[in-house]
Amino acid sequence: MKIDLSFTPSESGLMKLTGKRVVVIDVLRACSTMIHALARGCKDIYPCATVGDARRLFRQKVNELSRDAVLLGGERGGTKVKGFHLGNSPGEYSTGVVGGKTIVFTTSNCTRNLAFIKGKGAKEVLICSFTNLPAVAERLAGDDTDLLLSLSGTDGQMSLEDAVCGGMLVDALRKRPGIVLSDSARTAYILYANYRRNIRRALLDSTHGKRLLELGFRDDISSCSRVGRYRLIPTYVRGRVAVARA
Ligand code: MLT
Repeated sequence: MKIDLSFTPSESGLMKLTGKRVVVIDVLRACSTMIHALARGCKDIYPCATVGDARRLFRQKVNELSRDAVLLGGERGGTKVKGFHLGNSPGEYSTGVVGGKTIVFTTSNCTRNLAFIKGKGAKEVLICSFTNLPAVAERLAGDDTDLLLSLSGTDGQMSLEDAVCGGMLVDALRKRPGIVLSDSARTAYILYANYRRNIRRALLDSTHGKRLLELGFRDDISSCSRVGRYRLIPTYVRGRVAVARA
């Protein structure tokens, strides 16, 4: 199995994804928030690249389902978009708020990353952050399909916390027979090795982590650094993020 890694969405956009497994990572905060929402009983999530797309899809989903069944969530510049029901803090997505609901969701980087990947023939697209990483690693270990770790980054640049998360996945898989690491996957592993004893530190050291602290989202940093809090693995299939439930 070859493990490749892209540090930014535009790199993923240039790569051939046909037949590969893709793991989309956005530690702060979109993947962590989607995982949390699904763990709290949300039915499904429709990521949209732009605020305009999200508003349009929200109206469509309200017509298909009902007004009570759909919520609009997401951020720009880290804070809730005007008129949206929810921002991008995991804690907002409690069972009482999102249980049984469909969420139409847009964020600055991660949902754009998903839009780049959509329709490019990947065998499977998984959603990952620290909070479900051990479960994702176990799932990946059972299959030899080539892998792309697609990091969402921040404003078109690589972000430290996503790189450390990607590196942790590389570490979980690297000793298996037949693993070949790209230079970028190896680089992420080296970054992870630097933070392995204090994952929260990586989030606090990162540019986006500092920005979230300035905005008052300290609880989000703690929530997003809880490794292995959840066992669930959301997949992204035809524009929809959901968990296959038994
Ligand atoms: C994103 O997708 O850009 C992030 O989740 C930003 C954020 O922390 O809200």
